[in-house]
Amino acid sequence: MYPDLQKELSTFERRTPKSAEAYKKNLKRIPLGVASNYRHYEPWPIFVKDAGGSKFRDLDGNEYIDHNLTFGALMAGHCHPAVMKAVEKRLSTGTMYGMPHDMEWELAEEICNRFPVEMVRFGNSGTEATMHAIRLARAATGRDKIIKFEGAYHGLHDSALVSVKPHAPEFGDINDPTPVSGGLGVPKSAIDNVKIATFNDLSSVERRFQQNPGEIAAIILEPILMNVGLCIPQPGFLEGLRALSTKYGALLIFDEVKTGAKLGWGGASEYFKVKPDMICLAKSIGGGFPLAAFGASKSVMDLISQHKVFHGGTYNTNPVSMAAGLATFREVLTRDNYTHVDKLGKKLADGYRRTIAKVGLQAYIAQAGANGALMFYPNEIRNYRDWNTIDIDLWRHYWFGMVNRGVMAQPYWWDEQWTISVQHTEADIDKHLSAFDDIASSLASAQQEREAPVAVAH
Ligand SMILES: Cc1ncc(COP(=O)(O)O)c(C=O)c1O
Repeated sequence: MYPDLQKELSTFERRTPKSAEAYKKNLKRIPLGVASNYRHYEPWPIFVKDAGGSKFRDLDGNEYIDHNLTFGALMAGHCHPAVMKAVEKRLSTGTMYGMPHDMEWELAEEICNRFPVEMVRFGNSGTEATMHAIRLARAATGRDKIIKFEGAYHGLHDSALVSVKPHAPEFGDINDPTPVSGGLGVPKSAIDNVKIATFNDLSSVERRFQQNPGEIAAIILEPILMNVGLCIPQPGFLEGLRALSTKYGALLIFDEVKTGAKLGWGGASEYFKVKPDMICLAKSIGGGFPLAAFGASKSVMDLISQHKVFHGGTYNTNPVSMAAGLATFREVLTRDNYTHVDKLGKKLADGYRRTIAKVGLQAYIAQAGANGALMFYPNEIRNYRDWNTIDIDLWRHYWFGMVNRGVMAQPYWWDEQWTISVQHTEADIDKHLSAFDDIASSLASAQQEREAPVAVAH
């Protein structure tokens, strides 16, 4: 470890003793001391005391400008007043019914007006949305296999936990990526049904169709690959996937769990002008409450109406989340708020680019809608294997350096990106940029002194 990174880590340890203590207690009863593996990092994760607007405080009272925002699930920011008002009103009229109510139709209308789907069903997490979408696609086509991109994350069910972060020795030739299990416990039969392709490489996708004739039910993808920092589709890539899906009779599933609310008013299909067959939504559509949805044409969703595909869930459309979702669609995810966030996003990206050029850092800024990331690469990455060459210590230096200056620039892990909420202000962006300006030259010096090692994926 080089000295400037060591210095930032020591500062972090000095600033967060109460988090260390809480972590130690958690470790006794909770594996890794956290409720989701993604929340774990060394030496210990920051434990949160409270949050509001664009900021949160840790147990030691340090305040941070929050661009983690629950791994991008809080485009609304913390405790958005419109969401809080709607939720508070609902809390006294029943928090669970397990029976239909009139907010369901209202929210379904909001979603079908905004995204190219005719019917939706609701759930609570992105994992549920992609799991049900894949099952529906299998039912609609009578086929079992799906195409998924190496490095893409679609949640925790068996069909999704394949080649999420495969290690270099096991992922095979880039022209024929090996499907690699995301951990023990995923059945081999599930892995066999997932065919891996390379993002931004249409020929790798067509090859999978040709190798599995009449067997591919769907292509599932994030229109912008957001689990490798931020990897933008090259011109023609999404259009090509649309054409290949149609040609081979498979459904095109856009996993818009992240992009749906954050890329713009109509999500990725509006942004890129490509129409998928199915859409998965979650995270930011709930305004801070667990809410997810998947949707498609009436003919596909009718498989549920006809009792051919089963979908259920005790917590589906619980009134508190639905009230939060309605307030989020109507009062948070508005065209005016997208204009505000776009303006801040541009200011942040421009500021980073100026500093990068000033100090001679070998890095670039990728940005789309409310999201962006500092990418430590000489050239724009096009797929997972490009991303996998990152200098991890340099990234950690950046992240801890920013945190020590009161800015959580993005979630921990170098596969994530920043989110700007509707509650962030110009002053927040100025503070973010001044923190980066403060550490950028030490990043550049460290980079110049080191040779980047090949990354070990987490
Ligand atoms: C693109 C994408 N799909 C699906 C999921 C799973 O969502 P959840 O964590 O709500 O199950 C995530 C979560 O990070 C995601 O980023």
